[in-house]
Amino acid sequence: MFPTHRPRRLRNHPQLRRMVRENILTTSDLIYPLFAVPGEAFAKEVTSMPGVYQLSVDKIVEEAKEVYDLGIPAIILFGIPADKDTDATGAWHDCGIVQQATEAVKKAVPDLIVMVDTCLCEYTSHGHCGYLEVGDLSGRVLNDPTLELLKKTAVAQAKAGADIIAPSGMMDGFVGAIRQGLDSAGFEDIPIMSYAAKYASAYYGPFRDAADSAPQFGDRRTYQMDPGNGKEALKEIALDIAEGADMLMVKPALAYMDIIWRVKEATNLPVAAYNVSGEYAMVKAAALNGWIDEERVVMETLTGFKRAGTDLILTYHAKDAARWLQN
Ligand code: PBG
Ligand code: ZN
Repeated sequence: MFPTHRPRRLRNHPQLRRMVRENILTTSDLIYPLFAVPGEAFAKEVTSMPGVYQLSVDKIVEEAKEVYDLGIPAIILFGIPADKDTDATGAWHDCGIVQQATEAVKKAVPDLIVMVDTCLCEYTSHGHCGYLEVGDLSGRVLNDPTLELLKKTAVAQAKAGADIIAPSGMMDGFVGAIRQGLDSAGFEDIPIMSYAAKYASAYYGPFRDAADSAPQFGDRRTYQMDPGNGKEALKEIALDIAEGADMLMVKPALAYMDIIWRVKEATNLPVAAYNVSGEYAMVKAAALNGWIDEERVVMETLTGFKRAGTDLILTYHAKDAARWLQN
């Protein structure tokens, strides 16, 4: 009798396949990114990200209600300020655009978790994630002075009502500095989700259109990680854990599934994956051409992130996925 083992036995019926499925995506896994801009009743679609918009605060609130009604537990807010300067004033000012949006959403939809991206690149005139030496055209961000601005930014965001602080600038010591800043301002209960292993990636291109945050010169390779490195991700997460991170993120997701797996194996903290703008844009472009089945491709990809070990997924497909999961 050959073969003894026939794995196909468990694939012969849809209900049986459902019973033995190892990894299942749920709406609870999803976090939806939103881009806040000044103004009123304003919505502008991002050309390279069909279905994603820059939204004024009133529109962000409408969107937050829709997200909540779909059962998605959280949003993450990014901001595009009216003015940019070398001190990233729009990031840490009490009236900063993300602070305004956070306050408005928490007032209108108190049960929706509001995460905030804590970085300076959307607010600096040069588009880098921190302070530069005056006249520096290399983009080598000054680490320790930048930490002070990040602390101020996180405290302003917490004051506005943010539920989770998500620092993304890849500065050394940024989790520790922000933890200390939050604690000394009385926000010891606000968790930090660190963009712990964030790579210098071409997949952020469409986001930089959406957030108007492309560096004016140089690039981010002196602070974001080199795509060739795997073990270094474990060094980064060990540091962030020691500094008090509550959750860890790997970013981008698709080309870094091995990193998601290694990070999950190395820690018992919740791990998130950021299914970034370029990953979204590729799927959208192919789907709009009729070249792929968007629903099946998206659900397969998101399930793949779960299989790789993520607990949470930041994705621009979150609303669509939540709808598809309802059917
Ligand atoms: C800011 C930030 C970026 C993203 C999230 N936070 C861009 C960057 O580092 O240049 C990218 C998200 C995406 O591509 O969807 N530091
Ligand atoms: Zn940044």
